[in-house]
Amino acid sequence: MDQFKHLSFPKAPLIKTLPPGPKSQEFLEFQSKAESSAVSYPRGMPMALRRAKGATVEDVDGNIYLDFFGGAGVLGVGHSNPQVIQAASQQIKDLTHSLDVPNPARRSLVQILSSFLPPSLDKLFFGGPTGSDAVEAAVKIAKINQKRSPLIAFEGAYHGMTAGALSLSSGLSFKEDFLPLLPDVHFIPYAYCYRCAYGLEPDSCDLRCAEYLEHILEDPHSGVGKPSAVIVEAVQGEGGSIVPPSSFIPRIREICSENDVLLIADEIQAGLCRTGKIFAFEHTLTIPDIVTISKALGGVGFPISCVAFKQELDQWPPGKHIGTFRGNVAAYAAGAEALTFMRDHNLDDYAAQMGNIMLTELKKVEKESETIGDTRGLGLMLGIEFVRSKETKEPAPQCAQKVRSLCHQNGLLIEIGGHYNNVARFLPPLILTRELAFKGLEIFADAVQQTEKDLSSVWT
Ligand SMILES: Cc1ncc(COP(=O)(O)O)c(C=O)c1O
Repeated sequence: MDQFKHLSFPKAPLIKTLPPGPKSQEFLEFQSKAESSAVSYPRGMPMALRRAKGATVEDVDGNIYLDFFGGAGVLGVGHSNPQVIQAASQQIKDLTHSLDVPNPARRSLVQILSSFLPPSLDKLFFGGPTGSDAVEAAVKIAKINQKRSPLIAFEGAYHGMTAGALSLSSGLSFKEDFLPLLPDVHFIPYAYCYRCAYGLEPDSCDLRCAEYLEHILEDPHSGVGKPSAVIVEAVQGEGGSIVPPSSFIPRIREICSENDVLLIADEIQAGLCRTGKIFAFEHTLTIPDIVTISKALGGVGFPISCVAFKQELDQWPPGKHIGTFRGNVAAYAAGAEALTFMRDHNLDDYAAQMGNIMLTELKKVEKESETIGDTRGLGLMLGIEFVRSKETKEPAPQCAQKVRSLCHQNGLLIEIGGHYNNVARFLPPLILTRELAFKGLEIFADAVQQTEKDLSSVWT
């Protein structure tokens, strides 16, 4: 599995000076003086970036890292994918801004994206350039069709930062300073089997979490008004790379259909081959009514988002969801080329295989470790959950942070997420080679080992 070797820097990782090196430090100081304290990623990965290629990135001090973070899942086809860059560069010379006036690049993207989707999701809508904006648009489509306001989302969900999308995200720290947001949003437990909300086991739970949806929809005293839609991630991302049992999404689909509630699948992170299928909902042959897509759709990080939905839901008049930047033509060209690359290289199958290999290796690390409570994932969306004790499962965010920091110093970039910020998350570019995957896993395993050598210093 080295057909994508040429896409990354040949010598990776390569740490010349302990990060953050002097040049990075100078950039970070400038940033912290001139930019807002809301800047977040450089706190966990202190460095300044110079360039990137495939599954590798280089900082301004010449350190080269393996990238298991992948721009939070954006870089499906790899940083600076040459095919995508060429298409976008050509497009930049011709036309870059179009609002929603048609043009050849937009048409090419629509054609290939439509071929990726189930035939019943036959309408596409391009709104603003972010995933959050696609979620806002999806909610509008649901409300305008259903003529009712309540929405149901899941514990552990992340759908974005604009007011509507934030309302649907469960993390209290994100929203507690900004309340009230959208009214009538209700959260129910996701199938997070490692920490089942009901204290049950997957083989004997009768899917209590999904059944709870039926209960609140059918019990007139549930206190929850009939929703317009349920929004779900078929594999939860920021919630901690949580893969539900295969019967969960189909049961949610069934309950929605029986109760005339629309199902929105948020595929912004899990979609476009990451989980080993083009869309994560395909693992269970479920077809949602509305799908949100973004991140990897822009190829190499161009901003773009899209909503796909069933034709009969196309009941909104012109102008109901507008925005100046809904026509980033370079992003359309990049997206069309990225999807072509994914199709031509069967990137869904590749991600499935590579993901399996990595998960098997991570399970070995878990076995040897005293602080890894759970290792899970689907395709190249992997999560390693740190706990203080395997018995009590008390979350250990300190371990996740220490491991991330050690990984960074040794040339591997990873993400942290989860309900308690205690899950190391891998979202590498899908063109990761086996060689780079193993090098990264070794750095990760060493970081876990080093962290566990002196746990008393980690807890203090
Ligand atoms: C599942 C999901 N939905 C929505 C979003 C929001 O996308 P954006 O950050 O582009 O607004 C994210 C971002 O991480 C996401 O993972």
